[in-house]
Amino acid sequence: MSAPGGGHRPVLLDRVLALLGPALDRAGAVLVDATLGRAGHAQALLDAHPGLMLIGLDTDAAAVAESGRLLARYGDRVTAARRTVSFSTWGCPRRNSTSGRGASPTPMTPRWTCG
Ligand SMILES: C[S@@+](CC[C@H](N)C(=O)[O-])C[C@H]1O[C@@H](n2cnc3c(N)ncnc32)[C@H](O)[C@@H]1O
Repeated sequence: MSAPGGGHRPVLLDRVLALLGPALDRAGAVLVDATLGRAGHAQALLDAHPGLMLIGLDTDAAAVAESGRLLARYGDRVTAARRTVSFSTWGCPRRNSTSGRGASPTPMTPRWTCG
């Protein structure tokens, strides 16, 4: 599926817009899209939130180049770079056997690196 202006229109775009909307409407909002791809989410989020700054990362140099072309119209609101992001250091939810209410995830500490 294609997006206005070219690129990729993700099938869950409406859901992503709804979920992130409240956070991205805040002054000074910055979004890191760690799988920028062909900038489908990125373009829609930048259009929906005129104050949003976006940092787009992708491991694929061709994707970064294409996204750079697609996102050029947003000027200095966008920084795109080739990076391989690792989420392997995220903690895993554990079952809390004392709750009596089934699975209860423990707090997770998100950490990510890119190189
Ligand atoms: C389905 S596409 C993303 C589509 C994008 N969200 C959009 O709206 O157009 C997935 C992208 O993730 C990138 N990718 C996969 N693993 C990655 C990693 N570890 N770090 C950075 N990018 C990664 C791929 O190169 C690919 O371009």
